[in-house]
Amino acid sequence: MSILAINGGQKAVKKHPKKSTIFQIMVEEQVQTVSNLVRKREISFSPVVSELEQKWAQYTKTKYCIAMNNGTATLHSAFFSVIEEPSDEIITSIHTWHLGVTPIICAGGIPIFCDIEPLTLNINPAEIERKITPRTKAICVTHCYGHPADMDEINKIAKKHNLAVIEDASHSHGCEYKGKKTGSLGDIGCFSLQGSKLMTGGEAGILNTNNKKYYQQAIILGHYERFSSLSSRYDRYKGNTETVPFMNAGFKYRIHPFAAAMALVELKYLDERNSLQLKNCTYINDGLERIEGFAGAYVAPYVTKLGWLNFLIRFDPEYFKGIPRTRIIEALQAEGIEASAGRPGYIPLVRQSMLNDRQHHPGKVIWHHFIKNHPEYKVGDYPVAEKVLFERIAINPMRDVEFDQEYLEQVLEAFRKISKHKDELK
Ligand SMILES: Cc1ncc(COP(=O)(O)O)c(C=O)c1O
Repeated sequence: MSILAINGGQKAVKKHPKKSTIFQIMVEEQVQTVSNLVRKREISFSPVVSELEQKWAQYTKTKYCIAMNNGTATLHSAFFSVIEEPSDEIITSIHTWHLGVTPIICAGGIPIFCDIEPLTLNINPAEIERKITPRTKAICVTHCYGHPADMDEINKIAKKHNLAVIEDASHSHGCEYKGKKTGSLGDIGCFSLQGSKLMTGGEAGILNTNNKKYYQQAIILGHYERFSSLSSRYDRYKGNTETVPFMNAGFKYRIHPFAAAMALVELKYLDERNSLQLKNCTYINDGLERIEGFAGAYVAPYVTKLGWLNFLIRFDPEYFKGIPRTRIIEALQAEGIEASAGRPGYIPLVRQSMLNDRQHHPGKVIWHHFIKNHPEYKVGDYPVAEKVLFERIAINPMRDVEFDQEYLEQVLEAFRKISKHKDELK
């Protein structure tokens, strides 16, 4: 085992991980439930939607819930609910998916960014307070890759300044902070249920809240079919429903029943799948602690349940001095590990042209307030994100694979080889 596979040696990983039984059972149930809907012609409206909403509200221990056609729609609804005046500000992280930010602009707001914590990769609470202005309306938190953000700190700041807290929990279905589910820790929880997520409907989203006003605002934005459920005395359009029953803000965010049916089955198995994945990932995490130059994915003491959307292990750039990340990734791939630089598009948002490229802004009309009023976003203002995001390597998150110690040991052996023979990568 002394020659690296990238240099012609044998691969360390010879086994293939086996798909878990619970995953196979889940898929079969989804096939059944979706085909039943096709037969019943429940292809636009179906009771499965309210069943999903009730079960999700129970699961997250929240009062109101609306399933939608995607996660972006849930975020748009959340920002629409809290933004009152054009150019109100939403504080968010420089490290998230761009569709967690563009809906702020589409709802009339301006995103204000904070740098991240070096270990969790989530918004750094210590940065938030100095970004608050009289125009700030909310703090938006993404629980990146599944790892919950430090919500006690964030909620404390929000309370002090009377701000709403929006959680983008698109990566963290079933994950818990101090015994409570992500998405139930702030004022509005937003979840993508897109195909790659810990729980999916193929393409869908779900929003939950304990706040009736936010729930009603979400209905006004994208759910004309639910207007009869609104009281006529809600804030923004007070009285209008009595005379104009279709006071719809212009969007249609209804979930497809097939997606709702798929997601219901996923919910049933979510905890079990998260636990199995955590067992696999913890084995790798523990093993990496004993290999020089590598470390596992960080888990904060406040985390009580975890699933990994992406499993980002760490390498020490000092130990691998002179060897670029791409070279380490290639070496891991050659050893038989699925390794990559992570989710494409998850580079710090400040490097993405949508923010600063005034000539090529999309949606010149709906983005008008933003183009006119946004602050200059400078790359140098987010030094932690600029450094630590490039010190991570994404490896197969081992979701839905059976726990197989022999396979996991082979994975660790690949890391050991690379650590020991790093000079051969130069
Ligand atoms: C953090 C985050 N927010 C929002 C979204 C948007 O969700 P959707 O693709 O379901 O619209 C995603 C999707 O990947 C995401 O990762």
